[in-house]
Amino acid sequence: MPGPRRPREAVLDKLKPVITKRWLSPGAWRLEVYEQLDGYKALRKALKYSQADLIAFMKESGHRGRGGAGFPVGMKWQFVPDDGQDHYLVVNADEGEPGTCKDLPLMMNDPHAVIEGIIIASYAIKASRAYVYVRGEAIHAARRLRNAVREAKEAGYLGKDILGSGFDLEVVIHSGAGAYICGEETALLDSLEGKRGQPRLRPPFPATHGLYNKPTCINNVGTIAAVPHIVLGGAEWWKSLGSENAAGTMIYSLSGRVKRPGQYECSLGTTLRELIELAGGMQEGHELRYFTPGGSSTPMLSADSIDVPLDFDNVAKAGSILGTTAVMVFSDQDCPVVACWRWIKFYAHESCGKCTPCREGNYWMVRVYERILSGRGQMGDLNLLESACKNLLGRSFCGLGDGATSCVTSSLKFFRQDYLDYIEGHKTPLFDAEKIGAH
Ligand code: NAI
Repeated sequence: MPGPRRPREAVLDKLKPVITKRWLSPGAWRLEVYEQLDGYKALRKALKYSQADLIAFMKESGHRGRGGAGFPVGMKWQFVPDDGQDHYLVVNADEGEPGTCKDLPLMMNDPHAVIEGIIIASYAIKASRAYVYVRGEAIHAARRLRNAVREAKEAGYLGKDILGSGFDLEVVIHSGAGAYICGEETALLDSLEGKRGQPRLRPPFPATHGLYNKPTCINNVGTIAAVPHIVLGGAEWWKSLGSENAAGTMIYSLSGRVKRPGQYECSLGTTLRELIELAGGMQEGHELRYFTPGGSSTPMLSADSIDVPLDFDNVAKAGSILGTTAVMVFSDQDCPVVACWRWIKFYAHESCGKCTPCREGNYWMVRVYERILSGRGQMGDLNLLESACKNLLGRSFCGLGDGATSCVTSSLKFFRQDYLDYIEGHKTPLFDAEKIGAH
């Protein structure tokens, strides 16, 4: 639980608005304003580098992917073979991880930063076409990006011979149809090709066999939007903003039982205690019990981890994954069994059905949760959940199945008694078994 409050100034010091710095500037989504706020300066600088030097620079900066996996960006750019065949940059803007809300405000408030990052990344990997795959529901974000593409094209930042460099690039904004699975990079590629969005087997990775079977670099919106800032500020500056082995800042999306939920851009490695303080503390009458460091696909951590620096390595040491830094904060009044039931229902609904472990495993886990929550649980149900997770983890076609197990196994580790309370009849059933057809 949060300890004594520290002076506000010390906490506010933790805020490092870099990627979010234009969010409060009125009209920053328009080219005219963006240019007044250093817009497209990084592109002019980047076009003076050779492609190889730009990739080396990105590797030097230590920038890692912001979509959840934290893959080193420079290395990913380098994977794309420079062998003369067509290749592409694809930006994953299908943000769908429960609790995650950083890419949407980024696209709405600073769409030109995304476009500028796309041009720089495309130049680095020598792609002449880039696609942005926007989540189906985010019609407003797609519209704003399309407007930014039009403005950038009219100003000579896109199209033929960009700023006289000889480099050509077209950017296509593509709206998905609102399926969580299409955020998985290979399902996204299938969807972009006009097929049903279902994951492909990896390897081969998209780096060599991606869109239309051509080499493709897939980067998240947040990863790409940081690129112009890194190019302008320099590799050392970016590294200095973060912590050891975790360069730069990160947008933490705080939700749940805090007074002021929202996006807080801080150094990678900020702790939950600091984030809660930034968010005005816990809501009155609520005491921290558990949280997700990076969305529902990352194992929950208990209140004991309140001082764990939320960066890649330290979160892994604590037994979870940094993921999308979607920090969902739960209190003593939020039953972990109910929270898991809701997440598993989500995974069961969003499972594409291609592989049996994920399609069947999630379906059956929902039934077991509903049996427990309706007061008809049996002692063997906890073993059943654990065995379902064993058969999902590492045996599903893609990360959706793996991710679904995170909340189940971590809640059983920390909060087994909460499950037993329903099974042993110490807790009032959440719903009537007959009504929901639990058996
Ligand atoms: P991953 O670790 O399998 O791959 C990360 C990236 O590195 C991919 O682009 C992959 O193609 C590339 N890569 C990995 N090994 C490679 C190799 N040997 N050669 C070439 N390229 C290679 O992770 P994945 O499955 O892409 O993402 C999982 C993460 O996504 C989870 O940790 C979760 O937090 C996050 N996630 C994010 C969501 C969102 O809304 N942003 C939604 C759901 C999950």
